[in-house]
Amino acid sequence: MGVPLCLLKESNQPASEPRSREERRLNMWSFSSGRKKSNYKNTTCRLYLLLLLCTACLGKDDGPSVCYLDPEGHSDCAPEKDVNRYRGPSACNIDPASRFDCAPEKALAADECEARGCCYVQPTDTSDPEQPSCFFPVNYPSYKAVNLTRKANGYSTNLVRSAKTFMPNDLMVLQLEVMFETDVRLRFTIKDPSRNRYEVPIETPRVSTKPTNMQYDVKITTEPFGLIISRKCNGQILLNTTLAPLLFADQFIQMSTSLSSNFLYGLGEHYTSINLDLNWRRLTFWNRDLIPRKDANLYGTHPFYVAMDKDGLAHGVFLLNSNAMDIILQPAPALTWRTTGGILDFYVFLGPEPKTVVKQYQDVVGYPFMPPYWSLGFHLCRWGYTSSAMTREAVKKTREAQIPLDVQWNDIDYMDAFLDFTYDPENFGDMPEMVNELHQEGMKYVLIVEPAIGLTSPRGSYFPYEDGLKRGVYVTNETGQPLVGKVWPGLTVFVDFTNPEAHKWWYDMLKDFHDKVPFDGIWIDMNEPANTHAHGSVDGCPDDNLENPPYVPRVVGGVLRDTTICASSHQHLSTHYNLHNLYGFFEAIASHDAMIKIRGKRPFVISRSTFSSHGRYAGHWTGDVESTWEQLYYSIPGILMFNMYGVPLVGTDLCGFVGNVTEELCVRWSQVGAFYPFMRNHNTMDATPQEPYVFSNEAQEAIRKAALKRYMLLPYLYTLFHKAHTRGDTVARALFLEFPSDKNTWTIDRQFLWGEALYITPVLEEGETEVKGYFPAGVWYDLGSGAALESIGEWFTLPSPLDTINIHIRGGYIIPAQEPGMTTEESRKNSLILLVALTACGFAKGDLYWDDGDSLDTYKKGDYSMVVFMAHNNVLLNEVIKINCEAEKLKLEEVAVFGVPKCPSEVRVNGADTKNFKYFPETKLLKIKELSLPIGKKFEIKWS
Ligand code: NOJ
Repeated sequence: MGVPLCLLKESNQPASEPRSREERRLNMWSFSSGRKKSNYKNTTCRLYLLLLLCTACLGKDDGPSVCYLDPEGHSDCAPEKDVNRYRGPSACNIDPASRFDCAPEKALAADECEARGCCYVQPTDTSDPEQPSCFFPVNYPSYKAVNLTRKANGYSTNLVRSAKTFMPNDLMVLQLEVMFETDVRLRFTIKDPSRNRYEVPIETPRVSTKPTNMQYDVKITTEPFGLIISRKCNGQILLNTTLAPLLFADQFIQMSTSLSSNFLYGLGEHYTSINLDLNWRRLTFWNRDLIPRKDANLYGTHPFYVAMDKDGLAHGVFLLNSNAMDIILQPAPALTWRTTGGILDFYVFLGPEPKTVVKQYQDVVGYPFMPPYWSLGFHLCRWGYTSSAMTREAVKKTREAQIPLDVQWNDIDYMDAFLDFTYDPENFGDMPEMVNELHQEGMKYVLIVEPAIGLTSPRGSYFPYEDGLKRGVYVTNETGQPLVGKVWPGLTVFVDFTNPEAHKWWYDMLKDFHDKVPFDGIWIDMNEPANTHAHGSVDGCPDDNLENPPYVPRVVGGVLRDTTICASSHQHLSTHYNLHNLYGFFEAIASHDAMIKIRGKRPFVISRSTFSSHGRYAGHWTGDVESTWEQLYYSIPGILMFNMYGVPLVGTDLCGFVGNVTEELCVRWSQVGAFYPFMRNHNTMDATPQEPYVFSNEAQEAIRKAALKRYMLLPYLYTLFHKAHTRGDTVARALFLEFPSDKNTWTIDRQFLWGEALYITPVLEEGETEVKGYFPAGVWYDLGSGAALESIGEWFTLPSPLDTINIHIRGGYIIPAQEPGMTTEESRKNSLILLVALTACGFAKGDLYWDDGDSLDTYKKGDYSMVVFMAHNNVLLNEVIKINCEAEKLKLEEVAVFGVPKCPSEVRVNGADTKNFKYFPETKLLKIKELSLPIGKKFEIKWS
């Protein structure tokens, strides 16, 4: 090993020569940029001295040289103490939990493993296939950082590798850029300085200002290269890449990092509990059509995690990379990012609260779109409403059952020969009339569209396909012809939504169809994209390095083309190999934009496939879940995590999609589903019907009760969506996000919150009529009875007969609610109710965001109302922050105050005595009725 490189000398200054921070900065700048020409001699001397000092500091020249540099310019040229650790047999003496796989692409025998310079030890516990037997020794060659340069907002350095790895086409020279984007956000990229590689084409913030109070320290070890990011206030290491070598080959990039604790959340879309299992798990990212199950790549890709540090603070990491990827979690605790292309583009979020991490992530990927109010109502769908008559019947029966219903859907059944932008002239001949009728009843209509366009219609008979062909909007194969696969209509081509012309074409087609059938929203399905042709296309796929990369992540089916199109196919922006995980995302953008232009109102788009940033454009449903109790439970962590990804409009098919549901499961699922941010009952073709009205009266009553509760709480839900849209809050919220200092909450995912104030404790097990729930310290009021539950942070067993889902309001909060109607249009006309949940000292606060519910950009245009409510010292009052004409129609009719210690002798409304109140001593609930107070005028309600 040559002379170790040490770039800064500040820490080697004699203690007797303390210098100011500013001075140090100047010196560093002059050192790294060479700008202070007049100081040339000085600088040269310093350099010489520096080399001497560094060499001295590091002692031997054959040990690992480590030179630290932090954003303040502090350096630490101390040698690693245990140099021998890096050499000889002890190089393999690594704790099993901290071994990093040296044979990621295939299993190796001991001699093959050793031939590549790695260690071979059979794990004692062979039950877990992810535990490597072939692993990196501590001295495995990696990159060396050279030419470190300080920039205005960060650092830049080259990374140089002298020995090749076992992967083909190593990049021997890389460039690391560290960018201090904000006080709480750091970004670093590692790329090829000589050639542009594929980068994910999503919009991220451009930062020009310099942060002034950075909450992080960055250290770079020079040889072997590594990056250590820590939290400044407590020194907690958040990310440390020195545990294993960096590998960066053309189609294989790998970086490992330590984790700050065992509590990690995110990295979806996968079928997991809310906190990820770190016991040798692999998470694969390659969007795919699959019934959700464990250890499988599913429909979406969100390479972002939130980590709870041991002390209850939180941070997050996002790798902006869309290539096929594996992430390996191991008990060290550590994580390995392993991707098959692109660049490394990392963001680190400092939090320090987990909620703030989620917001900081959304500062990068964008805040979610504001959904129309009607989309928060109940949606009904099934694959198998094979005619407009059947569809009408479903609506009629739901209404007769007095179940609120806002949106009726149709699946591919409505299409003529399963072709997009057509309807079956026989069975759906009166589809336009049907949709108009729904509109007259105050309802909305959503239909499915497919990204796969049928091509077998006789020439001249199917305009969309031919027009698309002319306009060049399809994904092409190696010969430059549209790639042909197979989906519902038979042979199909696939729209390339990365092509701007395809966006125009998509709009034209939707617009033409909308002129016939005035739908209100669209459902974009099969957009991973799914392809039922077994070989990626009717012509198969070429045998090249995109189809057969040197490393294939553990995708279901073993090859990238399984149930999708050839990875080697071409799209406007790049190869499908690079863009596959973005297919649904780009379709969502095209659909979102088209719907805005067509309706001139808020878009409603629900997509199966997603990528980071999806929430800006559309919502999501969690795909083809089975009608089982297990899938009911997993729907909760699934939904909570999508909220963390900035996709709050998310739901699972109520009662499950695949298989026959039992009445009890459907009731329990409808109760949970009434609290999914997006509530849709959807069923597959060959399963028994599961609309609420097919069940017994008792079951219908239970479902009705839950649905009405949702409708009652819609003003609160809508306000939460506004907060998600304007500041990156979550709507359905995991408990640990709200109570990070209570460690018991870190694994809770059978209960969840709406925002800060509403707590849902559902029954998720068959035959149960009570449920165990954890309640963080504080007072919680049962929404049904008003009874208080005082907790010091403990588990309670709550009665939960079939007609009951336990909902609690958190003491300290005020929830705006409304008398429920059978549609949101009806509900919105009803008067307002305030649910005031007092803390033990009699305090509560809340707010209401209100607008017309469907116009575009109401917040931006200032066309909305915002009213804040406060209760303290037996007084409830409002503060009108902003009022528009929409809220002028809204009157406060009723107030329910939870936690009033004794019966008031008098209640005054704006100074006037009222007798319209009732006190319930058993539950300490005070109800005040017939208020008739315009919400936009100041009011004061006093009880004493
Ligand atoms: C697959 C979707 O996941 C499912 O919801 C839909 O019913 C079928 N495709 C048919 O369109």
